Amino acid sequence: MQEKKTFYLTTPIYYPSDNLHIGHAYTTVVGDCIARFKRMQGYDVFYLTGTDEHGQKIERVAQEKGMDTIEYVDGIVEQIQNLWDLLLITNTDFIRTTEERHKEVVQKIFQQVYDQGDIYKSEYQGWYCTPCEAFFTERQLKEGKCPDCGREVELLKEESYFFEMSKYAARLLEHIETHPEFIQPESRKNEVVSFIKSGLEDLCVSRTTFKWGIPVPFNPDHVVYVWFDALINYISALGYGDENSERWKYWPCDVHLIGKDILRFHAIIWPIILMAIDVPLPRQIFGHGWLLLEGGKMSKSKGNVVDPVILVEKYGVDAVRYYLLKELSVGQDGYYSEEMLVNRINSDLANDLGNLISRTVAMISRYFDGHIPSPGATQPLDEELRQTANKAYHEATERLEKLDFSNYLYAVMRLVSRANKYIDETEPWKLAKDEQQRERLGTVLYNLMECIRIALIMLHPAMPTLLERANQQTALFSSVEDVDWEAAGTWGMARPGNKVSKGQALFPRIDIKTLEESQMTEEKKEVPAQKAAAQTAEKQEKAESEFITIDEFAKIDLRVAQVIACEKMENADKLLILKVKLGEEERTVVSGIAPWYKPEDLVGKKVILVANLKPTKLRGVLSEGMILAASDPDDKNVEVIMVDEVASGNRVK
Ligand code: ME8
Repeated sequence: MQEKKTFYLTTPIYYPSDNLHIGHAYTTVVGDCIARFKRMQGYDVFYLTGTDEHGQKIERVAQEKGMDTIEYVDGIVEQIQNLWDLLLITNTDFIRTTEERHKEVVQKIFQQVYDQGDIYKSEYQGWYCTPCEAFFTERQLKEGKCPDCGREVELLKEESYFFEMSKYAARLLEHIETHPEFIQPESRKNEVVSFIKSGLEDLCVSRTTFKWGIPVPFNPDHVVYVWFDALINYISALGYGDENSERWKYWPCDVHLIGKDILRFHAIIWPIILMAIDVPLPRQIFGHGWLLLEGGKMSKSKGNVVDPVILVEKYGVDAVRYYLLKELSVGQDGYYSEEMLVNRINSDLANDLGNLISRTVAMISRYFDGHIPSPGATQPLDEELRQTANKAYHEATERLEKLDFSNYLYAVMRLVSRANKYIDETEPWKLAKDEQQRERLGTVLYNLMECIRIALIMLHPAMPTLLERANQQTALFSSVEDVDWEAAGTWGMARPGNKVSKGQALFPRIDIKTLEESQMTEEKKEVPAQKAAAQTAEKQEKAESEFITIDEFAKIDLRVAQVIACEKMENADKLLILKVKLGEEERTVVSGIAPWYKPEDLVGKKVILVANLKPTKLRGVLSEGMILAASDPDDKNVEVIMVDEVASGNRVK
């Protein structure tokens, strides 16, 4: 039997200084989505996560709690493992840096690098940020604080071992230049290159002023610097150095998935350690953006962390994973809010996906006694639906390969919306009234089941319980294990005759008002009940007449888009053809603003794009979105809305 192709994927190993928050969950969920996708494609996947348990930060936290360090971290590690179980993370292994198997490898590598003369003893004098566990020179500080996290730094003066990194700088630069996929997304590469070019200092790789670490093998007064120790987890988990290790076949790693905060450690220190011990470099380091809260990054010291356990209990694992994956554009930061999470659940999952499934199942139950009908002759509308499904499959595959999760889910949900529209266009309830149209009715319902089957397969890496839950109603899959990704690329695999059954809503709608009420402070709740009821009734009345709901507004996907090229359309006075970038994604947009703007006025500018407008052809050019502009009633003045600071790809809300 031919061996399966391997795929090795890692998350950062998290500090067990406290319970993890939704930002950490983001990385591990994203990783799990890739791991599941690759398994569905037939790869032999090794997905590694774990905990980074040494260092001054952890030692101090345990001391503050009056606990033994290991006793303290054991408790947190258990919580972390429970969190991954709750989020249905399918990691192959969980490595703890306090494990013997890891310590041995770290000591072996430290010794080897020392023996070959790349590590030497000297004295470290400089600044240290304990939360980041990072060294800085005076020059690197920002207003006397840590340049990465902005917190206080400490002055250190101690005997240390140094790793001569500069020796490998030229080789690393060459590797980065000749391997464009090495640091992704592309935008992160420049940051690393300029850092290396500005001159690499030798790295301090041991500490003497505390004990919580792996002892330097030839000088136990020193413990190994926590980042030197931590990075090695990626190979210690594979049994580096053990010739009999079955796991070594997974190296080189396909993707080290990390947040952008720890890019330099991964794109500079880690490859240099690997070069020093003559191990091939990983194929890719992917630095994703941050999940932000209004008011900045989530952090324990700010006390604004969001607990993923509570969210999963409230909304279910599929919905939380879906939201996390869809919210951040590739490589960009994104904002978290519970309201947005609820809106996503309501608009995408309850309205679009849930309704598509429940309407289709209900119609098959009513018109065909629950049996999936056989398809008859194909009409042009059916052909278009098939093509949409096929396009969604190719796009979703391509986006996932590029770790562009948001657009992967947009691609799938475009198919879901198209299928809902197909119901409105074909009006099966009318076909059902005419016996002559029985075959047509069967074809329409079969086609809808096909769309559902394809969407369910493609959503499986993102929402792992959905397929099984939906299958209890749709009966589309004979086995919910081992669902093959490629099956989403083939039309016509739904089996006529299988019996569907109506069931509970897969994603019940969440009443945003109830949610808001449950979050109200006691003080606010003291509004007299009658007055509150009257106000609510009044508001509801208005909402139904002249307002749109927040759900309806949330359906419009407004994004910042940067114009990278622009030209006038030939033989069309009013039209410009723009090429815009939304994060990493490129689109073409045709806009009727030529009377007010010259192409060169727009290139480089950041405009607002309605990103989920149905693509349409204008004079033969496919326009994938609409640019927003303000105008007076007679269109004398038309001004395109532009932004300066916010990066392209970000949402407008
Ligand atoms: O840095 N948004 O561990 P750590 C998105 N032990 N991702 C976030 C996030 C946010 N708001 N907050 C955290 C360490 N993350 C080291 C790693 S690896 C050899 C050693 C995620 O517990 C993101 O992946 O501080 C980030 O890189 C990681 O958590 C940092 O976790």
